[in-house]
Amino acid sequence: MRMSMVWKAMWLPVIAILTWPVSAAQGVSPFHDFLLRLLDIRSGMTVADVGAGRGDLALLAAKKVGFEGHVYANEISRDKVGRIERQKRERGATNLTVILGEEVDPRLPAKVDYLLMVQVFHHLSKPERFMKNTLQYLKPDGRLVITAVLDKRNPQAKPRTSTQNDPCVSDPEETKRAIEKMGFAFEQVAFHDNPNTKANWPTSYVLIFRTQSWIDDGWADWEKQLTARQQPERVMDTIGLKPGMIVGEIGAGDGRFTVHLAKRVGPGGRVFANDIDDRALADLRDRVNRYKVSNIEVVPGRVDDPCLPRNALDMAIMVRTYHELAQPRVLLDKLKASLQPNATVVIVDLDTAKERHDGARSSTDEASIRSVARSAGYDVVAVHTFLAEDTIFVLRAAPGVW
Ligand SMILES: C[S@@+](CC[C@H](N)C(=O)[O-])C[C@H]1O[C@@H](n2cnc3c(N)ncnc32)[C@H](O)[C@@H]1O
Repeated sequence: MRMSMVWKAMWLPVIAILTWPVSAAQGVSPFHDFLLRLLDIRSGMTVADVGAGRGDLALLAAKKVGFEGHVYANEISRDKVGRIERQKRERGATNLTVILGEEVDPRLPAKVDYLLMVQVFHHLSKPERFMKNTLQYLKPDGRLVITAVLDKRNPQAKPRTSTQNDPCVSDPEETKRAIEKMGFAFEQVAFHDNPNTKANWPTSYVLIFRTQSWIDDGWADWEKQLTARQQPERVMDTIGLKPGMIVGEIGAGDGRFTVHLAKRVGPGGRVFANDIDDRALADLRDRVNRYKVSNIEVVPGRVDDPCLPRNALDMAIMVRTYHELAQPRVLLDKLKASLQPNATVVIVDLDTAKERHDGARSSTDEASIRSVARSAGYDVVAVHTFLAEDTIFVLRAAPGVW
């Protein structure tokens, strides 16, 4: 099997291996031409070329988006910024803005439809920080486009970027996985064969990602109502949930709250989401797949044991679950084995003392939660009452428990 066929077989969805008519006569790189056609860059769009080099792609994109659109050419090198500015003046490209970027931030002044990184990703000195900052520059439906070079003669080759101008020879599968871990959802891959068969880099690959749209789509009305009632952002601020944390959620149900947790802890964090109900677990998996969230792990639990990883969690949380626990004391006791020292356990549940509760059992009143917490070896370290119908209890394992 020819190598290109091997790649085709390995990737789904693969768009095409295409070679557009060589436009070298007009000074346009065949690859740039291919890329902008593939992405269907059109009039009115906003595009950023991050690591724009000589600016050829940015200028071509500026031509495509026209005066209704805008292109940002970002470069970290002052010399290159100067060169792009000169080209811009010569061509009268008033819809092009040239930006001097920073090592960890492309510093774009606006959100874009397409953020292109052509042979740039493997040159980044701090890829995690750079890509984390990059997320904020995509419009909600925007796309991140990463291109690099495939070494057909040695497809397992490790990335080679010995000098700034070397092509980024790398494995597309590895690159895809790395970018997914940074909070982007993979969409498509395409390959382009260099028409110059003697060139050092015969085939380029293009990976297209979108942001993980877990919060914005597909919400049922009851979910919207609960979210309005429970104010996940305010709750997460109050309990000190931060990017990078490892969280265990007990009774995640279909993942309504889980995705908020996952978004907050970000690509550097993780949510272990458990439930005891098979249907809930199936719905939860479905949501995780639908929203293409990569930092949630679904864990089947037991009535008396959350079955979460040991010594792993910075925080555990139950939202509207505590009142359903058949054995709250035993479960809280077993949960301690999963907590890091100083981790907190957060209970958000209907408050029987508040007027508008919708059927909470007495198990969620403060005295009862305090009593169960104490007998399971926890102190109640905070009680927050700002929600209209629920109360937030924050527990920490009592000293001497470890
Ligand atoms: C009212 S739902 C709440 C779901 C979700 N937390 C939310 O707020 O949308 C309660 C969930 O707790 C789960 N549950 C009950 N007992 C449990 C236990 N011992 N361990 C894990 N989950 C449990 C149920 O299966 C159910 O999915």
